[in-house]
Amino acid sequence: MAPPLEHVRPMFELRGRCYVVTGGAQGIGFASTRSVCELGGNVAVLDIQEPVAEFKSLSTDFGVKTFFIQTDVTSQESLEAGFAQAIKQLGRLDGLVPAAGIAIDKPFIDQTWDEFSRIQEINGRGVFFSCQLAARQMIKQGFGGSMVLLASQTSHIAIPGHRMAAYNYSKGGILMLMKALAVELAPHNIRVNSISPGYVDSDMLQRVRAAKVPAEAAQMENSPPLKRLSNANDLTGAIVYLLSDAARFTTAADIPITGGLHAGTIEGLIYYESK
Ligand SMILES: NC(=O)c1ccc[n+]([C@@H]2O[C@H](COP(=O)([O-])OP(=O)(O)OC[C@H]3O[C@@H](n4cnc5c(N)ncnc54)[C@H](O)[C@@H]3O)[C@@H](O)[C@H]2O)c1
Repeated sequence: MAPPLEHVRPMFELRGRCYVVTGGAQGIGFASTRSVCELGGNVAVLDIQEPVAEFKSLSTDFGVKTFFIQTDVTSQESLEAGFAQAIKQLGRLDGLVPAAGIAIDKPFIDQTWDEFSRIQEINGRGVFFSCQLAARQMIKQGFGGSMVLLASQTSHIAIPGHRMAAYNYSKGGILMLMKALAVELAPHNIRVNSISPGYVDSDMLQRVRAAKVPAEAAQMENSPPLKRLSNANDLTGAIVYLLSDAARFTTAADIPITGGLHAGTIEGLIYYESK
């Protein structure tokens, strides 16, 4: 017989649970931190830079514990120390959002060895070992957990007006890492999923945009079928859903949040010109 139907709202509750967010000092990482806190979760932010001012008020605003631990995800020593301190402060670990990342928009033939390496060190290796450190703790605890990786529309397509081969390479890797970990860690009830955002208005996007001629920059609003730039508020619902028990049978899934661009574009002008 099928089990009785449960209320849905409590499935989204994160109260008493504990999370690490890398790159949580600003942008999508900070939005993830804030949304987890709003739903009652305690968060340790691991980032190379100090968090935005609002970080300080999250604990009183939402009645949770927050910690900032300065960490460089490109350094094994720093990342391991950051996780050790986070787990000590939090007391347990229920989930991970490894959001630290960088982007570069430059023709493939001009991208340098150093630029390529830097992107993979942060977007690839940093995420890989953040997941490993989180998984080790979750396996030790024995009650499972959830990770939400930041893939991208660039994991799926070469996007209009951009040349981001090294970034595409890193984010394609994240999509596959998510699937591999979801399968390998499932026996421990550790779920691993990803979101694939489109153009999200953040410092990262503004830096990429600043290097573009106006017609090319306009494609960020024009090419998604829903015809606007997205922002962190378009992502937080999916992030907390995947972290929560509402997604308890969801693993190895990717949620594209692109305004439809991952499926194609009809009116989006395809334009590229080096500035
Ligand atoms: N903005 C977008 O359009 C977009 C789209 C899809 C995916 N993403 C992904 O979302 C994630 C967050 O991006 P964002 O737009 O919020 O960028 P952002 O530049 O606003 O924030 C990135 C954060 O990562 C931190 N960081 C960078 N290098 C680090 C290091 N070595 N160690 C620790 N922390 C480090 C930065 O200090 C910053 O707080 C990234 O993985 C990015 O690739 C962004």
